[in-house]
Amino acid sequence: MNTPLVTPTPTAPGSLPLIGHAHRLARTPLPFMASLREHGSVVRIRIGTVPAYVVTDPALTRKVLVTDAADFTKGGKIIDALRVFFGDGLATVADGDVHLRNRRLMQPMFNKGHIATRGDAMIDQVQSMVAAWEDGEHRDVFADMNNLTLAAFLVALFGTDLPPHLQEEFTALMPAIMKGTIRQTILPPWANRLPLPANRAHAARVARLRTLIDQAIDHHTSQPATTTATTTQTGCPHSDRPTGLFETLLTAPDPLSRQQLQDEAITLLTGAIETTGTTLAWSLYEISQHPNVERRLRAELASVCQDRPLRYTDVDQLHYARRVLQEAVRKYGPAWMVTRTATRDTKLGGHSIPAGADVVWSPYLHQHDPEVFPHPDRFDPDRWTHADATATRGSFLAFGDGRRKCIGENFAWAELQIILATILQNCSRIQLTTRPPRPQAVVTVKPDRLTMSFSRPTTSGHKDDEDQAHRPPAQPCTR
Ligand code: HEM
Repeated sequence: MNTPLVTPTPTAPGSLPLIGHAHRLARTPLPFMASLREHGSVVRIRIGTVPAYVVTDPALTRKVLVTDAADFTKGGKIIDALRVFFGDGLATVADGDVHLRNRRLMQPMFNKGHIATRGDAMIDQVQSMVAAWEDGEHRDVFADMNNLTLAAFLVALFGTDLPPHLQEEFTALMPAIMKGTIRQTILPPWANRLPLPANRAHAARVARLRTLIDQAIDHHTSQPATTTATTTQTGCPHSDRPTGLFETLLTAPDPLSRQQLQDEAITLLTGAIETTGTTLAWSLYEISQHPNVERRLRAELASVCQDRPLRYTDVDQLHYARRVLQEAVRKYGPAWMVTRTATRDTKLGGHSIPAGADVVWSPYLHQHDPEVFPHPDRFDPDRWTHADATATRGSFLAFGDGRRKCIGENFAWAELQIILATILQNCSRIQLTTRPPRPQAVVTVKPDRLTMSFSRPTTSGHKDDEDQAHRPPAQPCTR
């Protein structure tokens, strides 16, 4: 029998006239995504009347992202919506020479050695913010984690001497920008163009963000820079005014225009905050539900730090913490729907994909495959220690792959480790104070609401906690 040249592509059940599967994507996006695997390796869904092809086999996703990437370029409705306000930053610019050039230019910003020069400054920033939390206060954890990741990222990007008013305005502006961005990606393009108050407000906020970035760049360039962190008599590795990672772009031999610098800064800010913020929020939630995980995290921290505050050089030794964070990234995506556009009529695993069609891949879907990750809804950091953990590599696609792979992955791991360790050092007990959060799939898979209380260690020992792995509050490094 001859093998058919074209495999028929199934359409997911439940499509309704005019809206297609939009109601399923809006109401139950994560179960809907995960269910598509049952129907085939490529499954057609309809968003309104427009078809999109969802890839459920990780080997085919790698074809889309790596080997056949020329046939599947970055694009789709979400990217188009983002580009309207954020311009041609690295994440939204079309595949081609500009992307390649800017990627090459920016890659050194995020290599491990370069990030290490910013590590202790980030720790100080996070430490000072966490130390200001009131003992036992109920806190909005998603907002807190986004604020911490933003503050740490600003220190890394622009250096430690960003004027406080700029830092405050960035912090006030970014949550509203993220919300407006989500709205832009959900609504049809024509609705985004209407002169509605919400659209005008979003445009005004993005314009303000561009001004803030300009001011941060101006401030940065007006200061005498030190090239790298230096160890001084104080023993602190960053007593000089350190340069930020953005220096790489500002001093490029073939410099970017102001508009391009703004586009890249906006892209980095929006790409860096909610992804790491939401991962941290979910990690803290899971830790609060698994006392044994918390105990092991504290024991590891105690043995690595030996009663002193965290230093950046400790981070690579926090192996269990890395597994906890990796499991949070796996379980919660955090990206759940990423798109490409077919550049020509082509085939994927035998399925015909017409030119111009949206092709969807989903880290969440792959990372919830029960054959690769048994009991995928279970939070199990130890799944990353098993000898066969390498066999799961092909399905762990949280940071993407190929030429559009996340440029900030090293930075994300560093920032996640710093923030988690600093919270554990400063807070002896972490407790959920509301009902368990429900995952909400917007740009990332975020908790719908998450309130927790954080207790300070008492001088006599752990408050309300018999855990022997007590850590004293971290003392800030005096600069
Ligand atoms: C847990 C944290 C993070 C996750 C899960 C994540 C995930 C991703 C994914 C899946 C992509 C690929 C999208 C695609 O293929 O279309 C991506 C791209 C990107 N990410 Fe991340 N990201 C994270 C943190 C960060 C951070 C901290 C930064 C900035 C320092 C960043 C900046 C970017 C940029 C600029 C791109 C576009 C790269 C390109 O197209 O060349 N991300 N990220």
